[in-house]
Amino acid sequence: MNAQHESPDCPDVDFPGRDKLVAAIDAAVIAGDEHAVTAALRNTLCRLIKDRDVQLPACVHEPIQDHYARRELYRSPDLGYSVVAMTWGPGQGTPLHDHSGLWCVEGVWDGELEIVQFELLDRDGERFHFRAAGGIHAGPGSAGSLIPPHEYHTIRNASPDHVAVSLHIYKAPMECCSKFAPQRGEWFVRESAELATDEAA
Ligand SMILES: [Fe+2]
Repeated sequence: MNAQHESPDCPDVDFPGRDKLVAAIDAAVIAGDEHAVTAALRNTLCRLIKDRDVQLPACVHEPIQDHYARRELYRSPDLGYSVVAMTWGPGQGTPLHDHSGLWCVEGVWDGELEIVQFELLDRDGERFHFRAAGGIHAGPGSAGSLIPPHEYHTIRNASPDHVAVSLHIYKAPMECCSKFAPQRGEWFVRESAELATDEAA
């Protein structure tokens, strides 16, 4: 077990460079409004990914067979943000989803991810009209951010044989979100989804 001071309220997993990572994120999160915070966090994450002092726990390199893994490594008791490592086996990905109105900064730690942003064009009750608004292939050391209402996207590890690892910093723990199931053409149906976390140890 390499978890320390872990409680159900504030996960806090120990790993080399954990203090450095938390101090750097703390400094970015107090940068100001959400635009300033996410810009600071993108720079911070890019730096941390290349920092050899920071070694995420071994578990984050282990995919889980039937779903991409979400392991919460840290939750700030003072600032409220949540740090989640995600592990993407070959071909694993998300449906189109939102982030419950929370800003988020996501960095690729290892491997490569395909991220497609969607623009919301129209809405009819629980039916949503989205259009893919460009995608990127993000490699190690790259980071991007989402600020609501521009929060609709998919993430996928398109590699047939390599695992990808990403680190996500959310304004607050994201325990539920909306997922959008394709219906016809560019129309999707919203479904509420609860987000579970996998054990980080
Ligand atoms: Fe997401």
